[in-house]
This record gives sequence, structure tokens and C-alpha cells, in this order.
Amino acid sequence: MGFPTIRLRRLRRNPVFCRMVQETALSADDLIMPLFVRPGSRVRKEIESMPGNFQFSPDTLVEEVKSIQDAGVPAILLFGIPSAKDALGSEAYSDAAIVCRAIEGIKKACPGVCVITDVCLCEYTDHGHCGVIKTNRNGVPDVDNDATLELLVKEALAHVRAGADMIAPSDMMDGRVAAIRKALDAEGMTDIPIMAYSAKYASGFYGPFRDAAESPPRFGDRCSYQMNPCNTREAMREIALDIEEGADIIMVKPALPYLDIIARASERFDVPIAAYNVSGEFAMVKAAAQRGWIDEKRVVMEILTSIRRAGAKLILTYWAKQAGEWLKR
Ligand code: PBG
Repeated sequence: MGFPTIRLRRLRRNPVFCRMVQETALSADDLIMPLFVRPGSRVRKEIESMPGNFQFSPDTLVEEVKSIQDAGVPAILLFGIPSAKDALGSEAYSDAAIVCRAIEGIKKACPGVCVITDVCLCEYTDHGHCGVIKTNRNGVPDVDNDATLELLVKEALAHVRAGADMIAPSDMMDGRVAAIRKALDAEGMTDIPIMAYSAKYASGFYGPFRDAAESPPRFGDRCSYQMNPCNTREAMREIALDIEEGADIIMVKPALPYLDIIARASERFDVPIAAYNVSGEFAMVKAAAQRGWIDEKRVVMEILTSIRRAGAKLILTYWAKQAGEWLKR
């Protein structure tokens, strides 16, 4: 049986039918807003390559978090920019850690918001790499996996002691989920979930973020720890290992160029999947919208829906607050 008995337009002609048969829905509950915090007070410094996004000090950050909550968005992801950087990224886990100060303020003012912290060293190291640099057997400087694990554990513990609700390691070291889970459990923090950046690709789309977090690597690139964009099967191994190590939520990053990875992961694994709609994906749409070349709201809703349709439940996006407001109306 086919045309003229079958007519797919039948269900498209009536807007009520359209709503009834719609397969994918986007809700503010699916969104997580990334935010950048730096020391100081009354700071609200716009990030040039990410219009409408700012580096905040802890006080102005609290005001921003309130407005994100008002938009119906339940969660934020915090990145810290330290006052000084060094080889070991000490401000990531010191008593003065800026992320910890920020969490305390947020928890006082907005106790209901879910505070997720990005656990990584690249914002805190003077060389801009995500771990400890050691000279390897060939005399070449390299990120040392196991030495980095100890520091990531210290950073995660500091965040949770300050009140973080969830930890998101983004460094791509092997074994970090297990190391962090073990340390949290040993301290009785058995109820703190880990959202692992599991399939994180070495991507050109992180460019604007590195301005925002002041974290570009000073030498070399991140290809010895982030994934090769050509690989799918390796992403499935990364995800499977993170789940085995205790990840509660797994993440694919970036989102749009990797929708196939999200789709494959959602067929394969029964854990919630998050996708990071990264800075470069934001910047290119924003730039075109500012020139009037595309309709920002329409394109953003289409992008976010496509990420949901591919199989991600959660979306980390710089449009979270704006999309929350759009969804309300
Ligand atoms: C830190 C980190 C990065 C991003 C999130 N966590 C940068 C990087 O790996 O270079 C990128 C986020 C974005 O581009 O929006 N490791």
C-alpha cells in the first residue's frame, strides 16, 4: 500500500496532530549552563569570542546563577580562572581555590541549584596542559598520566568539600574516574555523582573557550590525551571503561560534529548521556546571527533538539539560560 492511500502530510496539516506525534521534546531540565569564575569583586568581563558570556567574580556570579534559576535551568557547570598559574596548577586544589569560594556563595544564595564542577588542570597550569608535564623516555615533555591523577583527586575532593553536587572530570587521563570515585567514597561522599567527559575529541571547536578560560597550551597540542576525531570504536571503549570505573553520566564532546557518536552511545549504553555543545559551536552561530544571516532562536532550538534526538538527555550549552527563557514563553 502506498500513495494515494498513504499520505504523510495528513498528520502535518493540523498543528494539534503535529504536537501529538512529535517524537522529541526539549525541556529546560535538559540544560546545563557553563560559567567562568575568577577572583575579584564586581567583575563582569565579557568574553570577546563568546558574546553574552562573561568571566564573573564570585559576587556577580551569584546574581547570574539566580537569573539562570529563574529561567528554569536546574544546573550550572563551573570553570575557575586562578589568580596565578604554575607548573602543577596548585590553585586548582589549594585552600584558596576560586571554584570553592564561588560554590560557597552560590550554595548560600541559591541552595536549590545543582552545582557541577569541571575537574581539570589546564586553566591552572602555566603551560596550559591538562596534567603534570614530565620529560619522557625520548626527552620530550609529555603529560604524565598517573602523576596527574593524584592532583585531579585533590581538586575533586576540594570541590565536593566546598559543596559541589556533581564532579565532571574533563582531562581525559586514563583511570581518573576510578581514582576520583575511590577517593570520594573513602571520604564518605558516596552520593556525589560523576559526569565523565568520556568521548572528548581533540577539537578545533574549543578555540573560544581557551580565550574564556585563558588556557591555550603553550606548546604542542592535546592530541596525546584527547581523542582523534576520526575514531568511533575508540569512543565506545572510552565510554565503556568510564562506566566500569563508576561514571554515573557519560559525555560526548563536542556535540554537533559528533552526533553519530551520541547516537551510537545511546544505542549501546543505558546510562544518561550528556553532550557538550561547545564554545566554537556557539560562536559560529552567534556570529552569523549578529550579521542577520540566520535566525538565532530558530537555529538554536533546532540544534538543541537535534542533540536530544541523537540520544543525549543533557546538553551543556552557552544558550542554556536563553533557551530556558524561550521555553517558558
Ligand atoms: C578543559 C575543558 C575544555 C573545554 C571544557 N573543559 C577545553 C579544552 O579541552 O581545551 C571546552 C569547552 C568549550 O569549548 O566550550 N579541559
